[in-house]
Amino acid sequence: MKKRIIIDTDPGVDDALTFLLALASPEIQLEALTTVQGNVTLEKATRNALSVLEMAHAAHIPVARGCSHPLVKSPHASGEAVHGSSGMGHTDLPDPTSSIVETHAIDYLIERFLAEPKQISLFAIGPLTNVALAIRKEPRIVEAIQELVIMGGAIRSGGNVSPLAEFNIHEDPHAAHVVFHSGIPITLIPLDATYKCLLTSADVERLNKIDSPIARFVRDATAQYMEFYLKYEGFKGCALHDPLTLATIIAPELLTLEEHYVSVDISGGVSTGKTYADFMKVAKKPANMKVALDVKGREFVELFVERMERLMSLRGA
Ligand code: BDR
Ligand code: CA
Repeated sequence: MKKRIIIDTDPGVDDALTFLLALASPEIQLEALTTVQGNVTLEKATRNALSVLEMAHAAHIPVARGCSHPLVKSPHASGEAVHGSSGMGHTDLPDPTSSIVETHAIDYLIERFLAEPKQISLFAIGPLTNVALAIRKEPRIVEAIQELVIMGGAIRSGGNVSPLAEFNIHEDPHAAHVVFHSGIPITLIPLDATYKCLLTSADVERLNKIDSPIARFVRDATAQYMEFYLKYEGFKGCALHDPLTLATIIAPELLTLEEHYVSVDISGGVSTGKTYADFMKVAKKPANMKVALDVKGREFVELFVERMERLMSLRGA
């Protein structure tokens, strides 16, 4: 049976690649997207969500617009250095012709999960603002979400937006705190694993042996992303942060998952947004999530490329 998922997202290049991977995967039924500010403004994130779905012939998938600001802090806006000013790198997708659903993302999530308790999983690949507010508005959503898979955090790894913190968690640490301690069954996919999944220019060239809008999109979307990584982090390629969340469905054997008590610093100091696991069990608190501390990265990237090839053949290239 297909796993039914809703993705809460701030697209973002790797967010867009996650939608494509979901559409390419026979194990997954993508039911909806909900948008949140993060990599780019809410307006751009929502436009990108609609445009990418249209490009992939999936405009029937509903998109609900969510929160334009984090709960407490100001938006960071550093994501545009990585993802381009539009959020979609060097791509030039036409304006979408489809529209968002009328309902705000918070209410949309509440309605969908309460209508079918424990039937749908939520994949959160942006700041956790929408998810936290849905929990606060309707606490029964905690019991209704089958599973919550989050791209976020840096457990043993350093941060990518501050020396200690990862972007999605740092962008709304208070929301992350609410979500982490909500009681929802959580799997966290932090930088410890995602930095091992590097899409290379050779992978992009392989895809572009087929003349397809999807291959061109992957090439144009990732070009700036790769330039950023080369300039600031010193390696060739780009990390498939958000797509790796889907490995929990399509290739769980590639992930090394451990159960831990994990929290996030919201003290306001230099480590704000830092996620930490109680490895030594000194807090004597029960585990609140599974955490991916390692992954067979190259195998996941190969799978990603194969799935993009599959999507191109499904869409008649
Ligand atoms: C996360 O931050 C964003 O820039 C990416 O889309 C991903 O969700 C990685 O830290
Ligand atoms: Ca993202």
